[in-house]
Amino acid sequence: MATDSPLIIALDYPSLDAALCMADQLDPARCRVKVGKELFTRSGPAVLEALHGRGFEVFLDLKFHDIPNTVASAVQAAAEQGVWMVNVHACGGQKMMEAAVQRLDQHGLATHLIAVTVLTSMQADDLASVGVNTPLAEHVERLALLTKQSGLHGVVCSAQESAQIKALCGEAFLKVTPGIRPSFAAANDQQRIMTPFDAMQAGSTHLVIGRPVTQAVDPMVALEAIEAELSGS
Ligand code: C5P
Repeated sequence: MATDSPLIIALDYPSLDAALCMADQLDPARCRVKVGKELFTRSGPAVLEALHGRGFEVFLDLKFHDIPNTVASAVQAAAEQGVWMVNVHACGGQKMMEAAVQRLDQHGLATHLIAVTVLTSMQADDLASVGVNTPLAEHVERLALLTKQSGLHGVVCSAQESAQIKALCGEAFLKVTPGIRPSFAAANDQQRIMTPFDAMQAGSTHLVIGRPVTQAVDPMVALEAIEAELSGS
């Protein structure tokens, strides 16, 4: 039951039960779901099985960063569990990213592999403190290009970066963007937000949305409102 929706709902919950309680209110024909570090660390692969069993495609957001062989093996393990998308840190370097791509190819695994360029929590002085003195936007560009050259399918980026990355890496290169706030929703702790419509216009291919849907009184009503915004109505 694959969906062509650009929406990925972040299941940021501390337990399998809480995550499934939310998933059961969503329609796998109209969105995908994201499983992050907290949920996966607590629930293990059981959460993937449960979500797949309900028909969801899953983005496993574990942001692997290690030596090439270890990352390749972790990516293979994720793909063999049937996840739709998995990610690594681009700053792990070209050899690490290429090893992961090659491992998927060797095993005929079709999972989408994307990379985080620079965490949006990092600012210029944080980069400088770890020895990166390149301006932040330039560093994002460099890592996006390295990701593409390494054969990955796309990047996680802020919607503010989507147009720039589209110009640099092309339309087909995936741009998966969090920090999305529909016009009806509160910003919460997100600083640089964009509406779903504006993000897609800017070149994002997929939108990661958490609280505007998961904390709504009726999550499917919120999802429908986002779909309506996307269609321009
Ligand atoms: O609730 P909200 O829509 O803010 O959730 C956004 C999701 O995207 C969370 O899972 C958050 O960890 C993730 N994320 C983010 N900003 C990034 C990278 C990931 O908000 N730069």
